[in-house]
Amino acid sequence: MEKMSLNEIRKQFLDFFESKDHYVRASYSLVPENDKSLLLINAGMAPLKNYFMGTEIPPKKRMSTCQKCIRTGDIENVGKTARHATFFEMLGNFSFGDYFKNESIAWGWEFVTKYLKFPVEKLWVTVYEKDDEAYEIWEKKIGIDPGKIVRLGKEDNFWEIGVGPCGPCSEIYYDRGEKYGCGNPDCKPGCECDRYIEFWNHVFTQFDKDENGNYNPLPNPNIDTGMGLERMACIMQGVDSIFEIDTIKHILNKVLEISGQKYGQGNEKTDVSIRIVTDHIRSVTFMVCDGIMPSNEGRGYVLRRLLRRAARHGKLLGIKGEFLTQLVDSVLEVSSGAYPELLERKEYIKKVITIEEERFQETIDQGSEILKGYMEELKGENKNILSGENAFRLYDTYGFPLELTKEILEEENMTADEKGFKAEMEKQRERARNARRNNEDMGWKEDVYAKLDENIKSQFKGYKEYEMDSKVIAIVKSGEIVEAAQKGDEVTIILDETPFYPEGGGQVGDHGVLFNEECKIKITACRKNNQKILHIGEVLEGKVFVNGTVKSCIDIENRMSSARNHTATHLLQAALRNVLGNHVEQSGSLVTPERLRFDFTHFQGLTEDELEKIEKIVNQKVLQSLTVLAEEMGIKEAKKKGATALFGEKYGEVVRVVTMGDYSIELCGGTHLNNTSQVGLFKIISEGGVAAGIRRIEAVTGHKAYEYINQQELKMKEIAQILKSNPNEIVTKVENLVSELRVAHKEVEILKNKLAKGAVDEILATAVEINNIKVIRYKLSGLDMDSLRKLGDQLKDKLGTGIVVLATEKDNKGNFIAMATEDAVKKGIHAGNMIRQVAKIAGGGGGGKPTMAQAGAKDVSKIDEALEQVMNFVKEQVK
Ligand code: ALA
Repeated sequence: MEKMSLNEIRKQFLDFFESKDHYVRASYSLVPENDKSLLLINAGMAPLKNYFMGTEIPPKKRMSTCQKCIRTGDIENVGKTARHATFFEMLGNFSFGDYFKNESIAWGWEFVTKYLKFPVEKLWVTVYEKDDEAYEIWEKKIGIDPGKIVRLGKEDNFWEIGVGPCGPCSEIYYDRGEKYGCGNPDCKPGCECDRYIEFWNHVFTQFDKDENGNYNPLPNPNIDTGMGLERMACIMQGVDSIFEIDTIKHILNKVLEISGQKYGQGNEKTDVSIRIVTDHIRSVTFMVCDGIMPSNEGRGYVLRRLLRRAARHGKLLGIKGEFLTQLVDSVLEVSSGAYPELLERKEYIKKVITIEEERFQETIDQGSEILKGYMEELKGENKNILSGENAFRLYDTYGFPLELTKEILEEENMTADEKGFKAEMEKQRERARNARRNNEDMGWKEDVYAKLDENIKSQFKGYKEYEMDSKVIAIVKSGEIVEAAQKGDEVTIILDETPFYPEGGGQVGDHGVLFNEECKIKITACRKNNQKILHIGEVLEGKVFVNGTVKSCIDIENRMSSARNHTATHLLQAALRNVLGNHVEQSGSLVTPERLRFDFTHFQGLTEDELEKIEKIVNQKVLQSLTVLAEEMGIKEAKKKGATALFGEKYGEVVRVVTMGDYSIELCGGTHLNNTSQVGLFKIISEGGVAAGIRRIEAVTGHKAYEYINQQELKMKEIAQILKSNPNEIVTKVENLVSELRVAHKEVEILKNKLAKGAVDEILATAVEINNIKVIRYKLSGLDMDSLRKLGDQLKDKLGTGIVVLATEKDNKGNFIAMATEDAVKKGIHAGNMIRQVAKIAGGGGGGKPTMAQAGAKDVSKIDEALEQVMNFVKEQVK
């Protein structure tokens, strides 16, 4: 067997299946499309589920892919072992009701033995114990020695995840030799030891498992195979660890170069960190490339965890400053040949990673401050062990490695309660495990529309037609397929042809009516379910039957309003790139008849100036009356023309391209105007951030823009009226008012101070003396903290040896301050302790230094009672 690079193995595999008449498709995005049950693509078949189910027609009945996959279920083991990885590539060949076991097994064998030239004597196979058919193919057709065909039970050789297509499988194993074995003479595939490694799983998806656990035979049995590319490379390159195969080693070497560390020199901790950084940077680079942004939930959280874990282990390796983007380059060097999107988004990927790494740097700094606080507390309490809970809080909230916490604690001869830390960690894992249980199954959802004949399809005619005669081909009512529906029923109607645009590409569906002489149905939403267009609404009159004919009419005004917003969205995207730069990528879009909302990647808030420019350009393009043209063409041609496509969007071979003059060109299936001038007017109404690195612009067009401006004008008139002025003069008027107000405020301040001075003498007169300490306790109302403090200072200055405790009540909230003179402190007075005891009586809390402290009061009715106790507390303190 010759040594083959990982990239070469991938190419050989895909070329081989192309020669077997498969449609070789580029990897799908890591972000599942229309599949809420799955966080990240985790197998080659995951993006193809609908083809297996028969609810969507595949581009060809034979397909082959090399799919990017992420699995984080075993993240704790990543780095610790030679085989675990969060990112991997899965090679697969798939048949959707086309070929079956015979071909799949034979081709698998041909590829492995003839193309990759695996020595036959090293190969073993397994079959499901009841699958005689597969056994026979291996024995009779392929000619495998029966001694090397192992029958295994459901645990090993029946592939299923949740409900849905599943079936027996057959695996191919490679024998690495006795030295890896357990020594048991019976050792063979299925044994727990490291001798036989499985590298190719052929799943014969013959069944559809339903919710009751029944295995219903599928009309068309399918083939789903999966071969781990990295594992394959290990075998072919004769290495034990995925970190030693050519591509991954290249990244690992870069980690060594940056950190100045050595790998495999017996320092296990260092090796683990090196492997973690190497693995995680692959996942991070690919995830960001597919449009995922670091966040605190969902896949964004997975990304954040991986990224921070990598950064943290970089620190443990002694790397100073930010380093992850340098590693991105090394990932690109080995992977961008197969995944050109990495090169296209190189700058973007680096930017996102840099920002997150910087943020992490900040939280690490925050964490250091918090740790300092904990250490002060420990010292105060004469303790030297940091609780597991606090150590874990630092780890979890501030991304603070326990190792780092310990290092810092050591400087003060302190340690951390590691047991407690681990217990907290275990609790966290349990929470994560529970969350995962819901996340990582493949989630096949049964829906009523899948029960309909799969040949039922609706033709969308709405690019050109606004009304037409349509045939009712199915009616669904309360989740059931029915033959008819009548007045009052809420229904979903499927038509053979329709002018109704089904929600898609961010644009909401059309509204309208379906009617004939016998019935009238109001349609208030329109969606797509695979090939079927669903008209959702209510029967207003009469009865509607399957096979009946209806006139289907969309609400044209409504459609035009959506079209205005959709066309404007394209102009906006082009203008954003113009003004802000080419890093702007659409990350979400909503087009309704009322307004448009556009989310895009950009790393700081837009300035007024930028917003003004963008709005102006869009309106210029409106006034230039650009022709809006929609054409179908091949995806390659569209890309050549420079059409903007979406991150990770699944496009067919033929795409629809919408151009606006030579200003905008985008792949888009939405409904547009004929000419940009029909937008009328474009007005931005808001700009803001939605997540790190993602901004949102909302805007209106046409009638709504006109209404918006009218409203603004009305507001201005109202303001003018209040100011007894007119719109032309309100700015000057407001300016004058503001400066008058400023003068008035100053006067108020002066008067307040004068009053306070008078108050000082009055309050001083209330001082009482005990043990040679003068005590003032006094309640005021309406003062803010600042004035209270000033007053306290003045009293203290005039008091001589003593303590001042003041309370104030404002807006049903109470505050206390206490101030003690230095000589009173020498006699035992402590303002901080005083205020804590006093505030407690009024349900509040606070503290401070011996000379100065402050606190809040929750229960203002208790303030007097609290002040009364001051004398007692003074007596205690000077005892
Ligand atoms: N879907 C099968 C797997 O993931 C091939 O192993």
